[in-house]
Formats: sequence, structure tokens, C-alpha cells
Amino acid sequence: MTASRYILAIDQGTTSTRSIVFDAKGDIAGKDQREFAQSYPDLGWVEHDPETIWNDVVATARAALADAGVDAAAVAAIGIANQRETVVVWDRRSGRAIHPAIVWQDRRTTEACEALRQAGHEPLVQARTGLRLDPYFSASKLAWILDHVPGARAEAEQGRLAFGTIDSFLLWRLTGGRVHATDATNASRTLLFDIHRQAWDEDLLALFGIPAALLPEVRDNCADFGETQAEILGASVPIRGMAGDQQAALIGQACFSQGMIKATYGTGCFMLMNTGSEAVASNARLLTTTAYRLDGKPTYALEGSIFVAGAAIKWLRDQLGLIVRASDTSSLATTVPDGHGVYMVPAFVGLGAPYWDPHAKGLIHGLTLDASAAHIARAALESVAFQTNDLIEAMFADGASRPSALRVDGGMAANDWLCAFLSDIIAAPVERPVNVETTALGVAFLAGLGAGVWPSLAAISEGWRLDGRFEPTMPADRRADCLDGWNDAMARARYRPA
Ligand code: G3P
Repeated sequence: MTASRYILAIDQGTTSTRSIVFDAKGDIAGKDQREFAQSYPDLGWVEHDPETIWNDVVATARAALADAGVDAAAVAAIGIANQRETVVVWDRRSGRAIHPAIVWQDRRTTEACEALRQAGHEPLVQARTGLRLDPYFSASKLAWILDHVPGARAEAEQGRLAFGTIDSFLLWRLTGGRVHATDATNASRTLLFDIHRQAWDEDLLALFGIPAALLPEVRDNCADFGETQAEILGASVPIRGMAGDQQAALIGQACFSQGMIKATYGTGCFMLMNTGSEAVASNARLLTTTAYRLDGKPTYALEGSIFVAGAAIKWLRDQLGLIVRASDTSSLATTVPDGHGVYMVPAFVGLGAPYWDPHAKGLIHGLTLDASAAHIARAALESVAFQTNDLIEAMFADGASRPSALRVDGGMAANDWLCAFLSDIIAAPVERPVNVETTALGVAFLAGLGAGVWPSLAAISEGWRLDGRFEPTMPADRRADCLDGWNDAMARARYRPA
């Protein structure tokens, strides 16, 4: 155990940035969180302001330390977890982004991806990256920036620009431009990284027209990522852990054995199943991805990515004005005894796994004159469970056996009603840990492993504590009716060419 026993975890998500100080037992000592503005400049476009993200990271980190009553000098290490795939390109001289960040939800490169697919490139992309030719991932967004910002391509070729997902951008800023690196999990989401060789791939760089000079160095999840500039937090702090937020949550949930599954309910929902040292190729339209890489050794996961979970609740609040606070959803939803045949398919940004339909649009189906706001709120919550079940079914199709339990985390997992309904719909137990801030905890573990605060993954597993276990109770025929209604609504939301 080192003298400095605290870990500062930065969790930079899609709609909010939070910083959490953990003590050596993995308990929260202090925290702070800020929601930030989303920008939708065109149909299907989603952008973030990198300066806002940076300012919020610094502000929340300082506030979390103050909340914990801890000086930066007492922090053993920092860990960074982040929304994955989102692209930032910045000027290496000024450190300023040359374009707003293009967010993982952004669909502007749908046609570019379709053209590559039609030209027959998908098998190569899938074989090397485990992903699909979908606008979700970074490469086509990066190419878009190079093609649309005047002079960017030439500057990139001359090595004046840097590309990174949010982790890299933050690392660059935290280290005062001294470190341009990413980790194996974030690299695995770019469509440019060979997950088997664990290296950037020349063929994929050529396919997307990406100059290699833009790329960060790829390190293990637990590694020396440099030190923060002293003036940012009041002392220089080593950065020892970094991971995409979903992989960080897998670690926070201690899913270290083959077959263990977690689902994280944030803006979207991402279910990852640990597949050990084998990169299992999916026949059911799931993704194969790096779960974590420690000491140069990758562990893989099968992933199902749902683009909208909590974002549907945010939509009820911000666009429909149906609720004032996100937490009002469940009290509203439970004022009605059942869904009344109302289904919401939240395909606001197309559909991810297992449908992969970037053209699909959201819908609310089954409305009758006696349907109410409560039914719509309930349908939004229920859609999270139905989408999760679609992923579980896809995992079965890929040969997985029914999980002994699904470990859940993220903001929505705090909702008992949703956990119980989820357990009914997936027909398996749902387990919620004491700490549902699992993403931050996971990356704190990585940083703590790197700094010697925790000795091993086994020590992390021992610290996982159950808060609630939800067993399925819904009769099979009722479940079948619910799933029929969902499948019918889903079929209506899918894109049908004219
Ligand atoms: O792949 C996108 C994912 O990393 C976003 O996570 O927590 O912001 O929904 P979240």
C-alpha cells in the first residue's frame, strides 16, 4: 500500500462529466458531476464542445477533491473512463480542437459506411476489428473531419494534428501536451485497430484515408500515462488507468471470468460478456471487442450496444416536458398497472445491436384515447428491458448459456421497479451492486492496480458487494405477450426502403 491512498476517477460520459474520489477500500470519499449541452446541428448529427468537456473535467475533479477533503498530493493515481468512439482532432501546437467533437451517436457518415459496405469491405473490417461498418465507430467520423475542415488533411499528413477519442484528448490536456496515447479498449472502437494483433492496421488506415501521423500510441489499460501538470489540481498526479467507459464498468462489476455479463444503463445500454482470451466472432450481429489488456495480454468480450436507454428518459424530460426530473419517470410509470399495449422503440439515433439500422426512427406504438403520459413513461422504461432481452437472445444465438445473473449498473439500475421488470423480461436474475457508479469504480481499480493501491484483480473481485437481487416472477404467457408486442413495434420502427 502506498502512502497516498486515494484514487481520482474521471468518468467523462455522453451527457455528463463526473469525478469521484475513492478511498483504498473502494468507497466513495467525494464526488461532483455536471451535465453539459448536446448540439444537434443537422438531422442525425450530434456534437460536443471539447472545451466544455475539458473545463468540466477540471472543475469536477477539483470539486470532488474538495468534497472529499483530499489534497491532490494525497492522490495515488488518476483513472480516466470515457464515452467511447467520439472523435476529437486537435492542433498539436495550440492543443485546440479543429472541429467540435463528433459524438458516437452521430449518423452523418451513414452513406460513407454504406458505400464501403457495398464495395465489399465489411468482411475485412469485421475480421480485424470485431466491429461493423457502421457510423457508430470513429473512423468514418475522423475521415469526415479531414475532408470537411479546410486544410485539415494536409495538416494531418504533415503531423501537425492529433486524433483521439475523449480519453486521449483529456490525457493530452492533463499532461500539458506531453502524452499522446490511448488504451487498448478505446483503440478497439475506432475501426482502425486490429484487436488480434493489438496494433493499428495499415489496411484499415488506407481504407478510411487516415494518415498514421494522427494516431495516439496504444497502451495497456493499466499503464504509465504520464503525470498531470501541477497547476491543474494543485499537485502533479500520475495517471495510471484508462479505459472506455463500458469496459471500465465490466471491471467495476468484477466480471473477470469467462461468461460473466454486465449491462450498464447510462445514455445508452451496453452489455458485455467476458469471453476470456478468445476473441469470439459473433454470428448474431454482436461486436467482438477488447475487454481489457493487462501486461500486454488482451481479454476479450462480446458486446451488445443499445444506443438509447437513459437518453429516452432525458427526451421525456427535455423534449416532451412530461417529467421534471429523470427520477420522476418511475413514479409516473407505476401509477398504471401495466403497459396497456403502448410500446416505445427509442430509435432516436437509429438502432445498434442486434439490428444495426442507422435509418430506423423512434416511435411510440399502440396509442388509444385512454393512453396517458404514464403509459408513455412506462413504455420508455420498458423499452430498456426489451432491448436488453434482444441482446441476451443474440448472445444465446452465439452459444452463450443463460447467465446465472445479469449484473447491472449505471443510473437507471438504481430503479427497483426497472430491475424487477428487467428480470421478468430476460427470465434471469438481475444483480445490482452496492456501488452503481461502476464505470468510475472500474477505472479507479485500474489506476489503483497501476499505483499499487490494489494488488490484483482478485482483490477487486473480493470487494464486489451485492445490494439487490431481483428474481423473475412474470408468468411465461404474459412475458410472451409482452415480447410479441415489442417485436411488432420494433418491426414498425425498422427502415423499409421505398
Ligand atoms: O459507446 C458509447 C458509450 O461508451 C457511451 O456510454 O455511458 O455515455 O452511455 P454512456
